[in-house]
Amino acid sequence: MNSLTTRAARMPQAPGRSPQPSQSPHPLLDSLAVTDLELAGRLQHRLTEVECCLLERAGTDGTAPAAGATSHLITAGGKRLRPLLALLGAEFGDPEAPGVVDAAAVTELIHVASLHHDDVMDQARTRHGVPSVNARWGNAIAVLTGDLLLARVARLAAGLGDSAVRLYAETADRLVRGQLRELSGPASPEDQPAHHFAVIADKSGSLISASVRLGALQSGAPQAAEQALAEFGEHLGTAFQISDDLLDITSDRTQSGKQPGTDLAIGIPTLPVILALADTSPAGRELRDLLSDGALAGDSTRTRALDLLRTSPALDDTRAILATHLGRAGAALASLPPIPAREVLAALCEVIAVRTG
Ligand code: IPE
Ligand code: IPE
Ligand code: MG
Ligand code: MG
Repeated sequence: MNSLTTRAARMPQAPGRSPQPSQSPHPLLDSLAVTDLELAGRLQHRLTEVECCLLERAGTDGTAPAAGATSHLITAGGKRLRPLLALLGAEFGDPEAPGVVDAAAVTELIHVASLHHDDVMDQARTRHGVPSVNARWGNAIAVLTGDLLLARVARLAAGLGDSAVRLYAETADRLVRGQLRELSGPASPEDQPAHHFAVIADKSGSLISASVRLGALQSGAPQAAEQALAEFGEHLGTAFQISDDLLDITSDRTQSGKQPGTDLAIGIPTLPVILALADTSPAGRELRDLLSDGALAGDSTRTRALDLLRTSPALDDTRAILATHLGRAGAALASLPPIPAREVLAALCEVIAVRTG
């Protein structure tokens, strides 16, 4: 256990943000235990500004029936990982540069829009501890509200300049192609692992990388720093998705704010499931039988499949792959100047390891 492990607290799952007077408004930041007080204060202040910007941008224009739907997931919760990454990226240039807060808000709005679309794809009923937008208003409203949020991202990004708009366009393109490739599946069963890693890099690595990069870009950070941060974000994003897929099996709904086994139920293979299906033990065989039709029929088969997965050696194999990606993320930080923000990015890797450990 290194010093960061001892310092970093557990990553909050933050299923809901219903205001509790004693609760910190920024639990993810708290979990990183930032020791540099100036940096801690700046991040806290800026995250609060991001929150105001999000509510303002996602506020309804009164267009029924979308009224209330655009801000539903934002007010319900979320860890705000991507804005925090953007603010940390901005530390490598001038963190007070104009547009840094807007850049951080852009990253979260893209994320939230993608959750609207993802919950339709995955037929998810719960998000951030509340009914998903599709569960509450139906698929059509969920898709259109996601689109509306993306239109607002474009408007906000336009105020940041050409490079920001280009980065937004490239990121949205990659994210959606990742989601599409997840739907299409691999060309053959042998291609599944490579296909899966390409999918998670595109659907999650793209935005996590773009978040830290957009902050750096907006702050005028040197190009070499922006590149190193982009590489860090790619590995962190892949690791984060793997950790989320592990938690989809090991955590319960109160921890994650989502229904465990959602992807499993509709036959979307995540890394732990892919590895467990290759297991030749009786448990592996039973899991293959349960999943032989792709989707799982009913709650009792989902519960049985989750039980089998929770005791499968595939969980430790998945944790080992996760650790490799976190190691690569950490290595990408080496060329960056040793400022306090670099230590916080390293602590974030540790928090992701701890949350699935
Ligand atoms: C969920 O992301 C989607 C993935 C990329 C795994 P987050 O865990 O960051 O979502 P929030 O915090 O609930 O908004
Ligand atoms: C994450 O999708 C990627 C995007 C939302 C673009 P998942 O389906 O893996 O994430 P959760 O588990 O629903 O948050
Ligand atoms: Mg999903
Ligand atoms: Mg999905």
